[in-house]
Amino acid sequence: MFADLSPQPADKIIALMAAYREDPRTDKIDLGVGVYKDESGNTPVMRAVRTAEAELVAAQTTKTYTRLIGDADYIAAMQELALGDLVARDRVTGSQAPGGTGALRMLFELVRLARPTARFWISDPSWPNHAGILKHMGTPPRSYSYFDPVSRSVRFDAMMEDLKEAGPNDVVILHGCCHNPTGANLTVAQWEALAESAVSQGWLPLVDLAYLGLGDGLAEDAAGYRAMAVRVPRMMIAMSCSKNFGLYRDRAGATVVIGETPAEASMVEGTLASLNRLTYSFAPHHPAAIVARILSTPALRAEWEEELGEMRDRVNGLRHSLASALRQETNSDRFDFLAEHRGMFSLLGASSDQVEAMRADNGVYMVGDSRMNIAGLHPDQIPGFARAIIAAGV
Ligand code: LMR
Repeated sequence: MFADLSPQPADKIIALMAAYREDPRTDKIDLGVGVYKDESGNTPVMRAVRTAEAELVAAQTTKTYTRLIGDADYIAAMQELALGDLVARDRVTGSQAPGGTGALRMLFELVRLARPTARFWISDPSWPNHAGILKHMGTPPRSYSYFDPVSRSVRFDAMMEDLKEAGPNDVVILHGCCHNPTGANLTVAQWEALAESAVSQGWLPLVDLAYLGLGDGLAEDAAGYRAMAVRVPRMMIAMSCSKNFGLYRDRAGATVVIGETPAEASMVEGTLASLNRLTYSFAPHHPAAIVARILSTPALRAEWEEELGEMRDRVNGLRHSLASALRQETNSDRFDFLAEHRGMFSLLGASSDQVEAMRADNGVYMVGDSRMNIAGLHPDQIPGFARAIIAAGV
């Protein structure tokens, strides 16, 4: 049986993590996988997480199973985090999931069960695993125009034009905020226009929400997709707590689904529970319990929001410092987009040869399409990195 296997293509983001680890240079720069690093180059356990985790361990009396759908407090807290009270509670349902990828996968499964012929759309470009999972499931996605590499902004007219082809059989994946890999985001008005298109053409939005709070703030980052949520009959959200709670390896994620009616939401909930059972039975409880405790305990929530704010300010500060170092190096404003983009990522605009040259000559690790994780930079590395970019001819 296994003799029939052939080597699978390596995931380019995960492969980069290993390559970086193995590089012996001490001045190497890690701009690969989307992981936040603090001033000392460490990916911290957040303060509120540490406290909530200690309290949980002390109070825990059992590790017996929870529910297939997941921990009720966590699910309610994640729905509130995503949507506030903007959508009637009885139209909103969802499940716990192992990380954001697990949430996406379960939502793809939900769609496949509901409509085996459904088509998926992703932005051009998008997080590579969107296409990876969908191809693996036998439903390669179509892509809609998104990023203009010249203006470094969203090609909204072209996006809307492409989505004219989407109808009731289509699911359109949108990045809730902090677009991965471009850092170029939709305005609230553009989300509203997309909502109109979803309503008039009947397509179903699936919002990938992996970076909430890391752009401009929790409320600010939510404003766009929330404007859509109050306008459309149905919507799906895949949430991740990897970055904004720093729970990467623990795997806390959630699906949030808005149904047209309470009965539809209830049908979705039962289906998600069944799909969980068929896939992994129960999602990891420990990280979800940490998040639920933080979100439902005012002091912990305030501490979490404060630290998230510190992380966001650091990333936005790094964006400004890099843009200004490149302004000095080039005597031009051609890298000012770095200060305007939001979230962990921006596309530098380098060719794959230039990316390769920066890795070989300067120990700079970024994804081959020149996606940089700005959150991986240390301020001391910025002048040298700016010189490396120019030396590579970017
Ligand atoms: C990334 O895009 O680097 C992160 O979302 C990590 C991952 O799983 O790819």
